[in-house]
Amino acid sequence: MDAKPKISRRKFFVRSTAVTLAGLGVYAFGIEPRWVSVEHHELPIAGLPDSLVNTTAVQISDLHVGSRVSDSYLRAQFAYVQSLNPEFVFFTGDYLDNGSAWHLKKGLRLMEQFPRGSIGNACVLGNHDFGNGHSQVVAFAKNTKELARQFNSVGLNLLQEESVDLGGLKIAGLKDFWFGDFNPTAAAQVIGDIASHPSIVLSHNPDTVDLPIWNGYSSWILCGHTHGGQCRFPLIGAPICPVQNKRYLSGFYEIEGGHRLYINRGIGHTRRVRFMSRPEITVFKLLKG
Ligand SMILES: [Fe+2]
Repeated sequence: MDAKPKISRRKFFVRSTAVTLAGLGVYAFGIEPRWVSVEHHELPIAGLPDSLVNTTAVQISDLHVGSRVSDSYLRAQFAYVQSLNPEFVFFTGDYLDNGSAWHLKKGLRLMEQFPRGSIGNACVLGNHDFGNGHSQVVAFAKNTKELARQFNSVGLNLLQEESVDLGGLKIAGLKDFWFGDFNPTAAAQVIGDIASHPSIVLSHNPDTVDLPIWNGYSSWILCGHTHGGQCRFPLIGAPICPVQNKRYLSGFYEIEGGHRLYINRGIGHTRRVRFMSRPEITVFKLLKG
């Protein structure tokens, strides 16, 4: 009987590499973008009223409602968050993938299922809620205004350099740093208004954390925007991350000046690819700090 021809080392290497790359491709394009990680953390807040100790605040971010993120996937995440019966739900921007009329219509339909906190919600807009680039921002301005109006008309508390008191916890929201007509003076004012109270600031873009607007604010800032880079690689990290301060990718950061930052990786995506940066729902247990 003839012996089977042996595969050369080179062919073996090429075939193994091809199989590995195909597997990684299936994972990065097909699995990880919809494989949500639920992250549980404690959030100590100075002066938190006794009635709010051990309550749950869920942060969701960067939904990117549109053609690349399916409505059924987003509805499932909304239902999961609601099933946690949170006292607070905080949303840190990029509800839409862009501000076109088509995206707005789709987003408003989904808003009916947006998860609710039993004490309250607070939200900010992100750059994608305006558009992808300045020409879209101008073209879609009316739609973005309508989105903001709808957030407030259904009680989700969209904060644009404004604050709200939710059961004794003050939440301030900043306008988007890129496209939201961000005003440092107004931002500093609203931060100053809440600084001596148990409080949290919502700001889509973590680059706002480095601006001279905080004046000793020493509580938490919750952000989104980075998507955790969407793709992270060993040794080289995340090659694409849309922030000036490349240190800001995801998770907790202690900031000079006393305030503390948490960056959520978002539920949706711009391009449908993620690697080592799973979509995230963050569940905070509030504690007295
Ligand atoms: Fe985003």
